Order: sequence, then C-alpha cells, then structure tokens
Amino acid sequence: MAQQVKAVVARAKGAPVEVTTIVVPDPGPGEAVVRIQACGVCHTDLHYREGGINDEFPFLLGHEAAGIVETVGEGVTEVAPGDFVVLNWRAVCGQCRSCQRGRPQYCFNTHNAEQKMTLLDGTELSPALGIGAFAEKTLVAAGQCTKVDPAADPAVAGLLGCGVMAGIGAAINTGNVGRGDSVAVIGCGGVGGAAVLGSRLAGAGKIIAVDIDDRKLATARKLGATHTVNSTATDAVEAIRELTGGNGADVVVEAVGRPETYKQAFYARDLAGTVVLVGVPTPEMQLELPLLDVFGRGGALKSSWYGDCLPSRDFPMLIDLYLQGRLDLGAFVSETIELDAVEQAFERMHHGDVLRSVVVL
Ligand SMILES: NC(=O)c1ccc[n+]([C@@H]2O[C@H](COP(=O)([O-])OP(=O)(O)OC[C@H]3O[C@@H](n4cnc5c(N)ncnc54)[C@H](O)[C@@H]3O)[C@@H](O)[C@H]2O)c1
Ligand SMILES: [Zn+2]
Ligand SMILES: [Zn+2]
Repeated sequence: MAQQVKAVVARAKGAPVEVTTIVVPDPGPGEAVVRIQACGVCHTDLHYREGGINDEFPFLLGHEAAGIVETVGEGVTEVAPGDFVVLNWRAVCGQCRSCQRGRPQYCFNTHNAEQKMTLLDGTELSPALGIGAFAEKTLVAAGQCTKVDPAADPAVAGLLGCGVMAGIGAAINTGNVGRGDSVAVIGCGGVGGAAVLGSRLAGAGKIIAVDIDDRKLATARKLGATHTVNSTATDAVEAIRELTGGNGADVVVEAVGRPETYKQAFYARDLAGTVVLVGVPTPEMQLELPLLDVFGRGGALKSSWYGDCLPSRDFPMLIDLYLQGRLDLGAFVSETIELDAVEQAFERMHHGDVLRSVVVL
C-alpha cells in the first residue's frame, strides 16, 4: 500500500522549501523503497530550488543519502529488504553504447524509478537527480541502491552519493593521480576537499589547495593538502608553478566551475599534464583560450561526471577504507540537522560556513 511520509519539497522558484507530506507508492518491477537514515545538503539542491536546473516544480529535494531498503518490487535481485545502501544517480543500463563497450562508468542511459511520488493532491514530484531523499522514505530504481558495510555511519556514507564521490573520483578516476604526482585543487568546498583527500589516497607527493576562503584552506590541510594558496591575495598560477619547481602540477582539478578558475587550471599545469573539470558551469559561461596553447601544452583536458565513478565498484571500496581509518570521510560532516532545517542549511552553505550539513532522520 502507498505510504505517506514527511519530506522537503521546493514548490516554486526561489521560494523557501517546506516540509510536507508526500505519497510514496509501493515499489513496482525493478524498484525499491528505501527508509532514509541520512541525507547531505548539496549545492545542486539549492540549484533546483532556484530554478537553475529546470522548471519541473515541485521538486522533492535531497540526493546524498544512505538508508535501509524496506521493500523491493518484482524481479529485484541485487538488493533485499534490510540491506544498508548508499543511493546513487548512476544506475547503469548495461545496454547503451558505453556500457556495451565495457565503460559503464560513463553509462549514457542511467535510470530512475518509473512510478512517481506525489503530493497528497496527486501532483507529481520531480525528485532531485532522480532520488529525492530529504524524506522519511523514497522510491528509487533498485540499481540506484549500492550495498555497503552497515558498520558505516549513515551520515558519512550518504555523502558518497554525490559530491564527495565526485571529488575523490575526479582525482583518482578521471585525473588518474598516481604515486608521487603533484596535484593542485582549485576550489576546496565539499567537492574540491574530496579531491584533496582522493589525491592523498592515491599517493600524490605534493597537494596544493587553492581557495578564496581561509576556512576552506584550513580544512584542506586536514584532508591532506601539503600547501595552500589563498588566490584573493596571490596569483594562483604563479603560486602553483613556484611550488612545483617552476613547472606546474601534473594534475589540476578545477572544482569551482567558472571560466577564470578553469584558465588558472589550464596554465597551472605542467607540460603534458591533466586538467580535470569537476565544477559545473552555468549555460552563459564561455571559455576563450589560444588554440596554440591548447596544442603546445599537450596533455589532457578532461571533464569528470560524478567522478567517473561506478557505484558498485567505488562505494563499497571507499567505505571499507573509511572503516579501516584510512580515509577521513567523517571530515565532510560539518553538522547534523533535522528535516525542517534544510532552508537554514542552504543559508550556511551560501555563506561558506560548512562543507556539508547532513539531515539525520
Ligand atoms: N561533476 C560532478 O559530477 C559534480 C558533482 C557534485 C558537484 N559538482 C560541482 O562541483 C562544484 C563545487 O561543489 P561544492 O559542493 O564543493 O561547492 P562549495 O560551494 O562547497 O565549494 C566551492 C568552493 O570554491 C571556492 N571558490 C569560489 N570561487 C573561487 C575562486 N574564484 N577561486 C578559488 N576558489 C573559489 C569557494 O570558496 C568554495 O570553497 C560545483 O560547481 C558543483 O555543482 C560537480
Ligand atoms: Zn548504459
Ligand atoms: Zn549533489
């Protein structure tokens, strides 16, 4: 039977979000209902609320979540009731041209639940990133549930579902950071901070954190940055070159998503180095670079979608490293809050006060 649960909904562009009652249907074929234990507040939720993603209001927000599978629909074999899972927005299809070529981490046809969750009056909700987890329960495609070790704190585990995975993956998957590499990370919020942590995990020799906020630089140090640069006062490109023997870094991760920081990343990289763009730009942004420099500097200019992660491969592995004390994922949880405090959390995020506020249910 369909259930009524409390959830955070954005009804109109720019309007404060509200806690209201929604209807969650029983899982159909290939679907699962998950009881949410924790869900992080990500910039993307705020983008939805501000109409920056599309105008399919009302949105059911929240997408960095962990919880317990409650029920599954027909044909679901990969998860069962009682499983502790992290939700992902890359349920791979196995059929598209990328999956067929053995590259499911780029799957071009990921899927979500087919049935819709609704408001009490029947209005269909658009779940953020096909998840919608600022809710006591949510309906997803079973492939969006990735089983991980239940010993992990849900507030920490859920963060792998989006920003933290994107940052770690930008370094270890897309940037292919290796032992002894020099890395620079421009923008050290949740995503950039995770790129710092991922670089340390991969054995980078030098990790240079760049931000315009000293608080973020202090956190980056705790996460593994060996050097920090506040680029309000200092030229980021020159500083990174100076710290790398005049050459530039082997890998530069751009985790802001702006043309000026992308240019810094482009020029702060050594010859034949790699730029990874994990920050997400907005539609009006344009980039101009001398084509001769694009050629002459060689190397690779890459974008990182969700850290090029494969949830089934990466989530359990990263949770295991966290449980072994080798990966400080706990550092990203700045505060835990209740479901009715998401609006205030947006405010704190806007002021740069937190890496992540996490709703705990
Ligand atoms: N590629 C993906 O799959 C993916 C997934 C999640 C988030 N993202 C994107 O990653 C980006 C970062 O997300 P976040 O959650 O870390 O946001 P955040 O707001 O926590 O962090 C952004 C950081 O950039 C810093 N910053 C801003 N302007 C700067 C500048 N000019 N130079 C240096 N630093 C600057 C801020 O001080 C802040 O620390 C966003 O664009 C987000 O949309 C991408
Ligand atoms: Zn596919
Ligand atoms: Zn997110």
